[in-house]
Amino acid sequence: MADYELTGKTVLVTGGAGFIGSHVVDHLIDKGASVVVFDNLSSGRMEFIEHHLDSDDLTMIRGDLLDTDAIDAACKGVDMVFHLAANPDVRLGAVDTRVHYDQNITATDKLL
Ligand SMILES: NC(=O)c1ccc[n+]([C@@H]2O[C@H](COP(=O)([O-])OP(=O)(O)OC[C@H]3O[C@@H](n4cnc5c(N)ncnc54)[C@H](O)[C@@H]3O)[C@@H](O)[C@H]2O)c1
Repeated sequence: MADYELTGKTVLVTGGAGFIGSHVVDHLIDKGASVVVFDNLSSGRMEFIEHHLDSDDLTMIRGDLLDTDAIDAACKGVDMVFHLAANPDVRLGAVDTRVHYDQNITATDKLL
């Protein structure tokens, strides 16, 4: 990431209110990017990004990656995407593969 010039860039971070995503948001804003967070808050927390909410550098969109229109709109004008939205509960996949299929595979396919 250090090789990219981020000043003036708009970066979409899916799952930006999550554990990993919120740290990526901090880094991107620190490097001069404008960040659009797209997150359904299923496991993310607004408190992870609330320190940016008064800033023009962050736009928060509460939306679900399974909603094609919502993610399509969120991608408008974006230069770069970090895709960190997921259901990271590995154990759940052992009992219910459908959740991981929808949240990790179908969601990624819709984003792409
Ligand atoms: N936390 C770790 O130590 C770790 C280590 C290795 C890999 N990872 C991977 O990094 C990714 C993120 O993990 P994390 O720990 O930040 O998890 P997290 O649960 O904290 O973050 C995931 C974010 O995605 C959002 N989200 C989930 N489904 C969504 C959907 N359909 N639409 C929009 N937003 C959605 C959640 O609300 C949450 O904010 C996962 O793929 C995970 O497997 C995490």
